[in-house]
Amino acid sequence: MSLEENEILEGRQGEVLAREDSSFARASKKLYIESYGCQMNFSDSEVVASIMTKNGFSTTRDVDEADVVLINTCSIRDNAEKRVRKRLTEFKKKKEKNPEMVVGILGCMAERLKKSLLEQEKLVDLVAGPDAYRDLPNLIEEVGTGQRAVNVLLSRDETYADISPVRLDKGGVSAFVTIMRGCDNMCSFCVVPFTRGRERSRDPETIVQECIDLLSSGYREVTLLGQNVDSYRWNVSNKGEIKDKELPTVNFAQLLEKVAKVSPDLRVRFSTSHPKDMTDDVLHAMAAYENICNYIHLPVQSGNTEVLKRMNRGYSREWYLNRIEAIHQIIPDCAISTDIISGFCGESDHEHDDTVTLMRLVAYDFAYMFKYSERPKTLAERKFKDDVPEEVKSKRLTEIIENQLTYSLASNKKRIGKVEKVLVEGVSKRSEEHMSGRTGRNSMVVFPVGDFQKGDYIQVKILNCTSATLLGEVIEN
Ligand code: SAH
Ligand code: SF4
Ligand code: F3S
Repeated sequence: MSLEENEILEGRQGEVLAREDSSFARASKKLYIESYGCQMNFSDSEVVASIMTKNGFSTTRDVDEADVVLINTCSIRDNAEKRVRKRLTEFKKKKEKNPEMVVGILGCMAERLKKSLLEQEKLVDLVAGPDAYRDLPNLIEEVGTGQRAVNVLLSRDETYADISPVRLDKGGVSAFVTIMRGCDNMCSFCVVPFTRGRERSRDPETIVQECIDLLSSGYREVTLLGQNVDSYRWNVSNKGEIKDKELPTVNFAQLLEKVAKVSPDLRVRFSTSHPKDMTDDVLHAMAAYENICNYIHLPVQSGNTEVLKRMNRGYSREWYLNRIEAIHQIIPDCAISTDIISGFCGESDHEHDDTVTLMRLVAYDFAYMFKYSERPKTLAERKFKDDVPEEVKSKRLTEIIENQLTYSLASNKKRIGKVEKVLVEGVSKRSEEHMSGRTGRNSMVVFPVGDFQKGDYIQVKILNCTSATLLGEVIEN
């Protein structure tokens, strides 16, 4: 998942009102929502926008005209929390000028810090954890009557399955669809099980219906989201028992097929796969459907088996490499990306070198790379010392990043001369005369404007590249 990309989300009023006719007359109060962290948070903000528009709010991109300001937050690393704190102090200043404005914190930091942001630090009026968004209208009312508005209850079954998210992105081509919530994996470095609670899967019928609705409103790509999509299981309890014998069970490979069958014109992506759970069935489903994109994000975290044990990841270096082999065997030309942590507790030079050699063996197309950041209450915080010095963490991270740049460039260079099917996403950020889109392998392609528009599939011949982007010309379709 792409992390810590903050973005101001804007719901166009026209779009909101078109979907929520009945709220037209009531849509007077304005909501401003800002999201940090992973795609799941961006997806949740759309659920929040839906709940709020049903309760008489319209969305705005101008914080100064907002009645309610919500910030959807991330706790994955200390830096992520620091950025949010800085933002909250900015909002606090705005509130001094406009005391009527309600400021609320949502998401993982809200869940982790609970009341303290409200009571000790007095930074916000309202705190709502990831499973408490249906309660937001009540919480806002409570703030109005001078009460402390906190709901950080985690649920075992909330999936917001019945809520049709209000799409906040401006593109209208690609959408996130959450298929499960929470995580039961307890990787020792990770705060997510504490902030998101137990794993639960969403009803497949509602997932398929949401994809059908997205297609009919012009979307051409969905990304199915979960912390560990390979453990998606519908109608099966966490203990592995069938819940309702009258109903079928559905695993991730089966869900992928159902979504792929919605339409050959709807591209299907997913994130995140877990190496310990990724089955060949999923790979076969990907190979069988042209519209399931040939791209897998398979976080490795470390290339050393002992470090992986300390991380409680549930696989070894050999197991991981076997999964990479299976991808290459079953899906020729599949792009692979990863997440890597440098300087985890006790990581020796030799253990770090194993990460470097694994990267060379896999030659990832893309990677997200991080320095280990100790998180309160995690297994690692309780069991191990965060003993790799900061400068060693940085040096190792730099080496990892530099290596990855060469692999990304080599991967892109291999595409030169090939013709790629590209989904047009919009005008390029750099130049009005160019548009951009993605290949199935998730590479960004830039090409001159032509007789096509956002949402079209086009054939692009790749002429040149950088480590981040492919450059091409559109050929006759
Ligand atoms: N569920 C996904 C990832 C969720 S968090 C998975 O299992 O892969 C996204 C990434 O953040 C992780 O893959 C990891 O590389 C990184 N991350 C998580 N906790 C971290 C920490 N304490 N310090 C540094 N990076 C961390
Ligand atoms: Fe965190 Fe591990 Fe769960 Fe991913 S699988 S969210 S890294 S605990
Ligand atoms: Fe961050 Fe929470 Fe996502 S900690 S990475 S926003 S699940």
